[in-house]
Amino acid sequence: MDQAWHIGVIGGSGLAEGIGLDEAQEIAVRSPFGEPSGPVTTGRIGGVRFSFLARHGAGHRLTPSAVNYRANIDVLKRCGVTDLLALSAIGSLREALAPGHMIAVDQFIDRTEGRARSFFGPGLVAHVSLADPICPRLSGLATAAARAAGATVHAGGCYVAIEGPQFSTRAESLMYRAWGADVIGMTAMPEARLAREAELPYALLGMVTDYDAWRPSEAGVEAAEVFAVMKANAARARTAVRELARLLPPGRSASPIDRALDHAFATAPGARD
Ligand code: ADE
Repeated sequence: MDQAWHIGVIGGSGLAEGIGLDEAQEIAVRSPFGEPSGPVTTGRIGGVRFSFLARHGAGHRLTPSAVNYRANIDVLKRCGVTDLLALSAIGSLREALAPGHMIAVDQFIDRTEGRARSFFGPGLVAHVSLADPICPRLSGLATAAARAAGATVHAGGCYVAIEGPQFSTRAESLMYRAWGADVIGMTAMPEARLAREAELPYALLGMVTDYDAWRPSEAGVEAAEVFAVMKANAARARTAVRELARLLPPGRSASPIDRALDHAFATAPGARD
């Protein structure tokens, strides 16, 4: 039997004011994994329930390293979210991905360091598959929604996640290109890993704010430039979310990602705490 969609949205830089939900209610949800970035705003667009969380908190207080990704995923799961759409500012590693464009990322290279990246650990060992970290169904719908909102959207691409908070050196930027990365950001990992462990289909719409430092003609990335492009794009991202509500099929059929943990546990049932 199909269930109702409940879309979680994690908004990055430029989207802290939310996504314009109807009948919006702010709820403080507690997590055993610590403090999430802030309260969850839950509401509706048309007949679809959405729950929104600002990744960097109100007033953009949290660095990418300080975001509690586990608590953020956990509180959205507790709210009953069925699928999770991340909206993030990203830098471009390819000429064709110009500032102002969007990209529905489908692969990751993780260069983050020291972030809590799993809900599991000693006492309960689980290994989920991450070969295909993005849900193709949600990503396809998000791509169509962003196009309907008037954006130029690239379908597919590899995101390299760096620890930051500094932008990359020119040598690093050139190396990431040679590795096959298309875009660069600081937050999609471990978010995508944790969404999979929480059995939440995850998609990421990246909003290109700058060309990263690989381009010889580029002066280097400036935060002010990133935020200015992000601000200009925030309205389009909000429209894309409204279009997503319109494009979702009336009922949500099950996804294999809903059962990502079925065969993931190494710890024997009798030995689980
Ligand atoms: N976020 C936006 N632009 C970026 C860049 N060039 N590098 C890392 N994160 C970013």
